[in-house]
Amino acid sequence: SLPCDIYEFGETPCVAAHSTTRALYANYSGPLYQVVRDSDGSTTNINTKSRGGIADSGWQDTWCAGTTCGISMIYDQSPRGNHLSRAPPGGFKGPELNGTDNIASAVGAPVLLNGNRVYGVFVSPGTGYRREDVNGTAVGDEPQGIYAVFDGAHTNNQCCFDYGNAETNALDTGNGHMETIYFGDINGMGNGKGNGPWIMADLENGLWAGSKEGNDPGVPSVPFRFVTAVVKGEPNHWSIRGANAASDRAMSTYFEGERPKNGYNPMKREGAIILGIGGDNSDWSQGTFYEGCMTEGYPDDSIEDAVQANIASAGYDIAPLMDGPKVSVGSTISFRAGRSGNNYLAHDPHAGNISIHTVTDGNSADEKKAASWRVRTGLGNAGCLSFESVDRAGTFIRHSGFKLQADKNDGTKLFREDATYCAVQGFSGEGTNSFRNWGYAARYFRVYNGFVYTASNGGPREFDTKANWNNDASWTVVDGFAS
Ligand code: AHR
Repeated sequence: SLPCDIYEFGETPCVAAHSTTRALYANYSGPLYQVVRDSDGSTTNINTKSRGGIADSGWQDTWCAGTTCGISMIYDQSPRGNHLSRAPPGGFKGPELNGTDNIASAVGAPVLLNGNRVYGVFVSPGTGYRREDVNGTAVGDEPQGIYAVFDGAHTNNQCCFDYGNAETNALDTGNGHMETIYFGDINGMGNGKGNGPWIMADLENGLWAGSKEGNDPGVPSVPFRFVTAVVKGEPNHWSIRGANAASDRAMSTYFEGERPKNGYNPMKREGAIILGIGGDNSDWSQGTFYEGCMTEGYPDDSIEDAVQANIASAGYDIAPLMDGPKVSVGSTISFRAGRSGNNYLAHDPHAGNISIHTVTDGNSADEKKAASWRVRTGLGNAGCLSFESVDRAGTFIRHSGFKLQADKNDGTKLFREDATYCAVQGFSGEGTNSFRNWGYAARYFRVYNGFVYTASNGGPREFDTKANWNNDASWTVVDGFAS
């Protein structure tokens, strides 16, 4: 039995079942998610490979070859039809046209299920999904359960990487109007023990690790790479549970008790569904979602334990983030724009600005050094790379406002993630590799008007234009001019 079969057996059936990695019912064989191809705007469904099986990621790889794709819809596998799509603006606007949110890159979160590569939903800041027109989810003080599987190493301290029940108008309509799982290391709205990340409940205008405001040391920081999180609630009673998704046979209860005071009892849930954002479309958080569901009724702990045993048997494991020609850690390289010519990514001789410089054998030693980069293990994710300036030790290529510059590592998590790129197969024949930013997985090194950006293939910014994308975002990696 798969998770929603188990919930059904427990008489708390799924009213929303979302996963880009696998079926959540043993007899489900429909679409798991839809991807949109940025080159031509067309869409296709990614189905299960077999009834009750994992996603047919090979079809995504074929369909998206030579361009970029985004996850445009996450289908509800339950009979309720609660599919998720790009979130609309609410109390806060997203970065896309008309204030909508970004959708996730289709390749940001590769993951193995018993050795087979599939993809999760990689939520960068600005990304969010929502469904306002819902069917069957809890409203008011009705009982509800939620579980989700997340990447424990992809979090931040911003509001609010959530999955669950929220406002139908994307506005903050007051305490108790939402009940979601929150996962991340935000401080100041309630937290657990240590430095996080924590599984908490977002109940609107507050993240809760217990019934009292502030710190609740009963909720631990979760050290797992794959995390199963549970938040469930019924009249004046709720609970937070967690597990190592990859190995635990049961869940642990981190908190169980009464509702917080000040407007959270009774609850005033509205029933809309969000993923990756707060109730009012607060969209500064990041995280990765692999699978999850919402139930009708308050599930028994034993039912959730059985769900966790099934998640463990699915065999979640780390997948490589890079593909295409290998770019070796320790080597010194230069990035040639396109296939041929003498145009290279370089920093200005006496400053960190990065632009395209023409470099040939005749250039000075300093000019050659400014176009040469030492390949390092990714500062923000060891599965990818960072590029250190040859002439300025400790200075790395990073994006700021999505423009590339060479800056001194300031030791922050933001810097490390801004300076981490995954080398992948080049988009066009015009080069060997493309370089995807780890944290903003829809964004790649891209030449535009002589400067270099971390750009997406389409979007409201000028440097995100689709025109000439494949060539502008493809590079030839050559031995460094200087080492
Ligand atoms: O409760 C925390 C956040 O506060 C909610 O997600 C959001 O709606 C509000 O800004």
